[in-house]
Amino acid sequence: MMKPVNGFSKLSKKEKIDWLAETYLKEQPEDVRILRQYWNEDSRLQQLHDEFTENTLSNFYFPFGLAPNFLINDELLAIPMTIEESSVIAAASKAAKFWHSRGGFKAEVLDIKKIGQVHFIYSGDFKKLQSFFEEVKPKLLNAVKPITKNMEKRGGGILDVTLKNKNQALENYYQLHCSFDTRDSMGANFINSCLEKFAEVFEAEAHTYQPFSEKEKQLEIIMSILSNYVPQCLVRAEVSCPVENLAEGHEMSGTDFAEKFIQAVKIAEIEPYRAVTHNKGIMNGVDAVVLATGNDFRAVEAGVHAFAARNGKYSSLSHAEVKDGIFKFWIDLPLALGTVGGLTSLHPLVKLALDILQQPSAEELMKIVAVAGLAQNFAAVRSLVTTGIQQGHMKMHLMNILNQQNATEAEKLALTNYFTKHTVTHSSVIEQLEKLRK
Ligand code: MEV
Repeated sequence: MMKPVNGFSKLSKKEKIDWLAETYLKEQPEDVRILRQYWNEDSRLQQLHDEFTENTLSNFYFPFGLAPNFLINDELLAIPMTIEESSVIAAASKAAKFWHSRGGFKAEVLDIKKIGQVHFIYSGDFKKLQSFFEEVKPKLLNAVKPITKNMEKRGGGILDVTLKNKNQALENYYQLHCSFDTRDSMGANFINSCLEKFAEVFEAEAHTYQPFSEKEKQLEIIMSILSNYVPQCLVRAEVSCPVENLAEGHEMSGTDFAEKFIQAVKIAEIEPYRAVTHNKGIMNGVDAVVLATGNDFRAVEAGVHAFAARNGKYSSLSHAEVKDGIFKFWIDLPLALGTVGGLTSLHPLVKLALDILQQPSAEELMKIVAVAGLAQNFAAVRSLVTTGIQQGHMKMHLMNILNQQNATEAEKLALTNYFTKHTVTHSSVIEQLEKLRK
């Protein structure tokens, strides 16, 4: 059996690669060349990327693209997107153009509250715990002053700290439930630093609190951490237009299209199997902008899906209706985003993405991301209820198949032309390519 490696992180990059080549890639020496091929020739830029994480061996490229023509609250924006899925940017751009001539997207931030919790166990009288909490709360808030000072200058800070009794669900379990306004930063470090300070002071004070019995004084902190569930950091994006204006790009009347579209959304509202895919389409847009702007897409994903299941059943994030002849399609999304701190000033492409978006505040970015999600969802559902999804998908996929087959530029041109009139399937592309090559 192979032995575990010790001190791997302390090896130089070259040594790490040598170890990898020796241990796992003996049969594929060309793989090591690929690692080097993806290094940036600008050594300072490479070092910057190396230092984002530990044990970096190389870079992993994703396309960085642009979806133009997004009219959002009457401002025309081009949205940078980082995504590998071939049809996403095309779909977003198409939806942007469609809604541009119908008044564009409207978006508003409904709330900006973020949550963090100190989880602790306490075995004793809850009333005593409540009195202790009331007494110690000013001390907690005072203890974090050095951390909150700058955030308060920017208009943010701690909004509230409450004591929560979770003893019914888990024996002896209680929380300090804290809410924060972190302004333009995602705020993870700020929130976690505040929570850890609360925890330290709270536990120390409990150990010497006279009214507590010896057992009660043993109050013990389990952990202190922000929550990625942010249902009160919420943004709404919507589009609307008279039903008859929906008759474009397909053969249905506006009314028929609206009916079928709304039916598709209703299915996603009540059927989890469909809801997950429906929401995946939304996340195609959301994640692409979240990534391009250097935000934490894992946090966003976790929070959004929890929100989609908030009523006890996983459901659609978007909704649609017709009222008085007006079609309306909207989405509410919980999004904890930042436009300062983190990667935003470090990663050159993130900086560029934020420049393209005209240096948005976190609230503006929330609106943009929600709009990208809604646009993506509109494009996907529109395809699904009209032509079907494969037509557009396979057209975009054609280039991937051609690249896999190392097609030349001339071959690509010939086959792209051919497939404007024929259905793309993997085997039909290979067949046509072989014919061409003969
Ligand atoms: C594919 O990435 C996304 C879709 O499946 C979304 C949907 O079904 O609504 C097309």
